[in-house]
Amino acid sequence: VVSDCGQYMAAEHCYHSHNVMVPLVLFLAAALALWVYFQTHRPKNFPPGPPPIPVLGNLLELHLENPIADLERLAKRYGNVYSILLGTRRAVVINGVGALKEALVNKSADFSDRREDLFVRRAAHPKAHAPGVVLSPYSPGWKEHRRFILATLRNFGLGKQSMEQRILAETHRVVKLLQQSDGKPVDPQSIFHHTSSNIICQILFAKQFDSEDEFMKFFTSFFRETSKIINGPWGMLYDSIPSVRYLPLPFNKAFHLFKMSHERYLEKFIENKKTRVPGKPRHFIDAYLDELEKKKRGNTESLLSEDQLRAVLLDLHFAGTDTTANTVLSGLLYLMKYPHVQELCQQEIDRVLQDKPEVSLEDRVQMPYVQAAIHEIQRTANTVPLSVFHCTTRDTDLLGYSIPKDERIIPNLSSVLNEKGQWKRPDEFYPDNFLNENGEFVKPEAFMPFSTGPRVCLGEGLARMELFIILVTLLRRFRFIWPEDAGEPDLTPVFGVTQTPKPYRLRAQIRSSLK
Ligand code: HEM
Ligand SMILES: *[C@@H]1O[C@H](CO)[C@@H](O)[C@H](O)[C@H]1NC(C)=O
Ligand SMILES: *[C@@H]1O[C@H](CO)[C@@H](O)[C@H](O)[C@H]1NC(C)=O
Repeated sequence: VVSDCGQYMAAEHCYHSHNVMVPLVLFLAAALALWVYFQTHRPKNFPPGPPPIPVLGNLLELHLENPIADLERLAKRYGNVYSILLGTRRAVVINGVGALKEALVNKSADFSDRREDLFVRRAAHPKAHAPGVVLSPYSPGWKEHRRFILATLRNFGLGKQSMEQRILAETHRVVKLLQQSDGKPVDPQSIFHHTSSNIICQILFAKQFDSEDEFMKFFTSFFRETSKIINGPWGMLYDSIPSVRYLPLPFNKAFHLFKMSHERYLEKFIENKKTRVPGKPRHFIDAYLDELEKKKRGNTESLLSEDQLRAVLLDLHFAGTDTTANTVLSGLLYLMKYPHVQELCQQEIDRVLQDKPEVSLEDRVQMPYVQAAIHEIQRTANTVPLSVFHCTTRDTDLLGYSIPKDERIIPNLSSVLNEKGQWKRPDEFYPDNFLNENGEFVKPEAFMPFSTGPRVCLGEGLARMELFIILVTLLRRFRFIWPEDAGEPDLTPVFGVTQTPKPYRLRAQIRSSLK
């Protein structure tokens, strides 16, 4: 009896505590389920993707340092349009030339926006009325600036000889440096970052900077540091899990660095105003201020402003430096790894230029092989693999899937540049990918290292001119050789918003055919 009673008492006691616990547990479970549901819920008919984990989304499925292989696995499983959760942030990845053209070209009005909550946007352009151009929303302000910048680049000589002269002048500094190296191994990294930075600075400030100049030194390390943070796990964390934003984590350093860069531009600005003559633009800043005053006088509605000018300076400087430099660096790496391609280029260059003192852009037409090699360099260098993220302007659909407004869109340029069926040999370094059976240069539709649609790289013309003039000038004077003691060249790039080749050294041997 006693034991029965004891059992009874115990059960009673248990029952009582159940009374309190059960609803509490049920409530918590329901709240959790609801929270998980809203965090991970995909809208109706949304592109498929891997099932996510609360808070982290699919982050555990990715190696943050280099998510390439993991993402490839997902694309294989879910097809050309799939979705992924980066933390609590959802994104739609678009793979392949068909889907990408459909979105960025045919449906460009739906797919050409940028999100305002991106880490880089917050860090680089904290003022909402001055979003720059690269990360600017798809808006009248963006359109006005894009048009103005393209016209100004043209006025300052793009497609004209003056720009060629500037690029040649910069390239000759490289030639001199390489000559001084006397065939001994050199690290080319900072050389080419300095070159591309100076070319864009000539347009922006009409100035060439010495590599020892404080301004140049600041920006060289600024680009490197901030890219590292933006690309790295901390930048991804900032974009993925909003609640960490207020913590004193390493991404704060990027905010600080961007602030310093704005201050540097402001100094140049004030310095420049002292010598400016309205109506006589010497460079981009003057041209912008002229336009600003013209619009003010004419009372024309305009979104030009001095804050916006500084934001645009930063954008052009940033977008024009690492991209071009990293493409040239990949190019030289490939040409050392495949010396027969290098030789074929040199033969064509010698044949076409003969004793002409300098190459000019028009010589391009007579150099189909060099053109093909440079395009193949861009294809394999894959410098901006995931483009700049886009975002939808309104509810739309793609290949039968529904995609809501404000959805992050990742245009996978890498998938197009390597796409099976679009290239003769997608997995090799093979300039014939750009040559037809008559040896003429052809550009397949899938060549889109600059992306496509209304947001296509605004510096494409400049970048292509730089790549041609720099590479032809260097190949004409030097044979590039991989140092004997350096092992095998490693072509695997370092992943990032802009990919770089792994650091390497090169030997530049003066070619006997040129004095
Ligand atoms: C080989 C060199 C370059 C490559 C591979 C490259 C690639 C790209 C890519 C993929 C985009 C994103 C397009 C999109 O959102 O769909 C872009 C945008 C942009 N690039 Fe380049 N770029 C290069 C050089 C340059 C240069 C030299 C400049 C400087 C004038 C420049 C200025 C810009 C600007 C301003 C944008 C933003 C366009 C917009 O949002 O409307 N780029 N670039
Ligand atoms: C983009 O495409 C490439 C090549 O197919 C693939 O390796 C990569 O994982 C893809 N990236 C994403 C984010 O899907
Ligand atoms: C996209 O536009 C191109 C060129 O205008 C056209 O040929 C193609 O059929 C369009 N695609 C779709 C799916 O409408």
